[in-house]
Amino acid sequence: MDEFDLEVISCKSCKRLIEYADDVKENGRKAGYEKEEYWCKPVPSFGPINAELLIVGLAPGTHGAGRTGRPFTGDYAGELLYQTLYDFDMSNKSESLNNGDNLELKNARISNAVRCAPPNNKPTTEEVNNCSNFLIEEICMMKNLKSILALGGLAHRAVLRTMSLKQSEYPFSHGAEHELDGIEWKLIDSYHPSRYNLNTGRLNAEMFKDVFEVLKR
Ligand code: URA
Repeated sequence: MDEFDLEVISCKSCKRLIEYADDVKENGRKAGYEKEEYWCKPVPSFGPINAELLIVGLAPGTHGAGRTGRPFTGDYAGELLYQTLYDFDMSNKSESLNNGDNLELKNARISNAVRCAPPNNKPTTEEVNNCSNFLIEEICMMKNLKSILALGGLAHRAVLRTMSLKQSEYPFSHGAEHELDGIEWKLIDSYHPSRYNLNTGRLNAEMFKDVFEVLKR
């Protein structure tokens, strides 16, 4: 773990999220995972800091990334994401099940707008704002950054906020490619690959692949 990761995992800014993590650790493990050591801390990003692509999700799922300690890992939402990264030759494996699986990303890094698992997957505005300094720091450290892929509207808004850009000038839309005023990297939007979006057909594998085709260009 590098210094940035240590800074992330020791964050105690959001009382509600710390209490929730403690409660999950004590009483809230999901059936089938009772014997697992839940992570229950802020989840650090995954992937090389010199990558050209940064993918920003919403927040760790309680029983996915909040359990395994790696973004989108052991999480339904990660299935399509990691499969697609593999299909585009950006990783060495198509699945991300746990933190000790030797999965490696190539030229891509995955992060979250909020790094602690929130109750009902819903962080408050204050929690998103509290976490925004980590995103700013991360973007500054990514010297080769060419694109940020925002997964969902909340991630899109969190990225714009780091650059103090107006939401009204860059509305979220699936597949959109935003050139940001005065900024070298582009912001690309996708619907979040959540269970809800996939089950309702708002997003499907083909639509997600199309976004990666845009990124590839
Ligand atoms: N897991 C994450 O790490 N982030 C998400 O947005 C969803 C699941």
